[in-house]
Amino acid sequence: MRLVLIGPPGAGKGTIAEKVAANHGLAHLSTGDMLRDAIGRGTPLGAKAKEYVDTGRLVPQEVLGEVVAEKVRQLDGFVLDGYPRSLEQAEFLAALEGVDVDAVIYVAVGEEAAVGRLRGRRVCAKCGAVTHTETAETCGNCGSGDLVARTDDRPDTLKKRYGVYMRETEPVIEYYRGRGVLREVDGTGSREEVLARVEAAIGPIAACGDDKR
Ligand code: AP5
Repeated sequence: MRLVLIGPPGAGKGTIAEKVAANHGLAHLSTGDMLRDAIGRGTPLGAKAKEYVDTGRLVPQEVLGEVVAEKVRQLDGFVLDGYPRSLEQAEFLAALEGVDVDAVIYVAVGEEAAVGRLRGRRVCAKCGAVTHTETAETCGNCGSGDLVARTDDRPDTLKKRYGVYMRETEPVIEYYRGRGVLREVDGTGSREEVLARVEAAIGPIAACGDDKR
């Protein structure tokens, strides 16, 4: 099964993608995580991406496109989280041979709720697990890392990211609706409620994949 998750910053894409990938034995491919990792390790990709990620702008397609293409071509099934986020990227993904997307899950959350979630988001400095100030004071994964805010969750950068989402990524939702693969899911409520809705939306596709095995 090949899934794409789309939604505004703070919609909960990463949180959902991790669970769905684990539930169905799929790879979780997050372009945001991949870029932050490359920046942290000081790779050539990281060096090119840093100023864009730090300022909440999209990393240019010529920097990111082939990196994503190489990864998805190697995978039978994936949950793609954070790509595509422009029409250019959507067309690029559609043109990749043998990488037909089964469904695009649009996680619909209003700006106020999404931004509220990001204000409290914390990332473990040691293992990278994502948590929230409302639910945890220590890392629930490794138990020992410091919990820190993402630098691009600062209010000024967040505002820019939201603007980029409205301008560049919202049209991608209509692009996929027109292709008949969009599944819109209410992203409000608890993590468990949202996950249950996403699982219901992909249920028929997952069942179809099981039949093929
Ligand atoms: P990226 O990391 O993809 O950022 P984003 O799309 O803005 O999404 P976020 O990671 O902020 O939010 P999320 O929806 O995953 O929410 P999460 O699950 O963490 O990209 C970062 C940057 O990289 C971009 O700005 C760009 O520069 C670059 N980039 C990435 N992809 C690119 C591309 N394709 N092209 C060009 N550039 C690219 O949840 C948020 C918080 O809420 C967490 O604390 C979580 O615990 C909590 N939470 C989650 N669900 C719930 C719930 N139901 N109820 C309450 N709290 C919840």
